Amino acid sequence: MLLPHQAPDCADGLWTDLRLAPGAAPASTTTPDAPAAIVVAQGRIAWVGDASALPAHFAHLTPHAGAGAWVTPGLVDCHTHLVYGGQRANEFALRLAGASYEEVARAGGGIVSSVRATRQASEDELFASAAARLELLLAEGVCAIEIKSGYGLALAHERKQLRVARRLGKAFGVTVRTTFLGAHALPPEYAGRSSDSIDLVCRNRLPALAAEGLVDAVDVFCERIAFSLEETERVFKAAQALGLPVKLHAEQLSDMGGAALAARYGALSCDHIEHLSPAGIAAMRDAGSVAVLLPGAYYTLRDTHLPPIEALRQAGVPMAVSTDHNPGTSPCLSLLTMMNMACTLFRLTVPEALAGVTQHAARALGLQDTHGVIAVGMPANFVLWGVNEVAELAYWLGARPVQCVVRQGRIAA
Ligand code: NIG
Ligand code: FE
Repeated sequence: MLLPHQAPDCADGLWTDLRLAPGAAPASTTTPDAPAAIVVAQGRIAWVGDASALPAHFAHLTPHAGAGAWVTPGLVDCHTHLVYGGQRANEFALRLAGASYEEVARAGGGIVSSVRATRQASEDELFASAAARLELLLAEGVCAIEIKSGYGLALAHERKQLRVARRLGKAFGVTVRTTFLGAHALPPEYAGRSSDSIDLVCRNRLPALAAEGLVDAVDVFCERIAFSLEETERVFKAAQALGLPVKLHAEQLSDMGGAALAARYGALSCDHIEHLSPAGIAAMRDAGSVAVLLPGAYYTLRDTHLPPIEALRQAGVPMAVSTDHNPGTSPCLSLLTMMNMACTLFRLTVPEALAGVTQHAARALGLQDTHGVIAVGMPANFVLWGVNEVAELAYWLGARPVQCVVRQGRIAA
């Protein structure tokens, strides 16, 4: 029975008969396998713990029956390129015919072809296409998402991408973190003038977009087909001067030493990292940077060089898992599928994969105080799953096990 002041989709009240997935709530608040309860008040977690320990004054609240569902924190997709024009199925066909990702990129396809399509698209067109993709991610329980620029590569077009990202957050009631990836590829008009292009990124585009409140973090594609270590550091210095955190597309195709550099700048995360060296791992550990694993790109590119999972595990570097949704190397719109691939391809355990799309993904975005765990005081973001055991979240391919999503204190699905 809803109280009169509550909107029908308000999640406030007492959620009972739940099973909390391992790591879903702070260990001190729950006993493994004991029936659990969550209290939501004014959109925030007011209490979480064993149902048997529920304080009596919460017992009268609006009931929401969990019917024995497993519960996880809202999922966090911490690395996406969700806003872009067009798509690149033609390159899929080229790769099937034998071309490599690097060959396609060097022949004028790749990122630059998405740049052309993104520049041609209006803000409303970009919003509509990205919204359709976002809906699929949200339907699977995503409650926070990172969206990068990097397909505009000119001030007006980077702005357009970032504005769309902000609009998506408001329109869908989901936490969106924007990342400026102005150094994603060399735009065609700067061919042979990489250094000048980086100058513009540092002196003009980044400060302008940051001043407009459109930038939460700064990323660079540090790779032999993109930007050098020295160019990457120039962008990091510009970010640092503006007080913005950095992250890096690092060691995807080769070991450039990018992760160690990013760690020196206190990077939130280093992403891809198939070719990460022991020195890079040590630097990330010391800096507290998250290793973001992107099995969708690994799979799509038919990569065979595995990221150094065991060494990361031994070093205690937190590992996140994300879709890396983008039109070139990871046209994936399912974070659960990424959990499956992280387990099957990278040999993560199920608890590691789950932590990878919740608490570690939140940390990769600097959102660890508000997302990734169900804890008192945090905004209510959690998912009820219609599964018998938690491992099913990573086990099924293409299942739709979501029973109910509570996002930003509202029952969203
Ligand atoms: O994360 N590695 C660089 N950027 C994207 C690919 C972008 C594209 O091909 O359009 C990635 O995999
Ligand atoms: Fe990426």
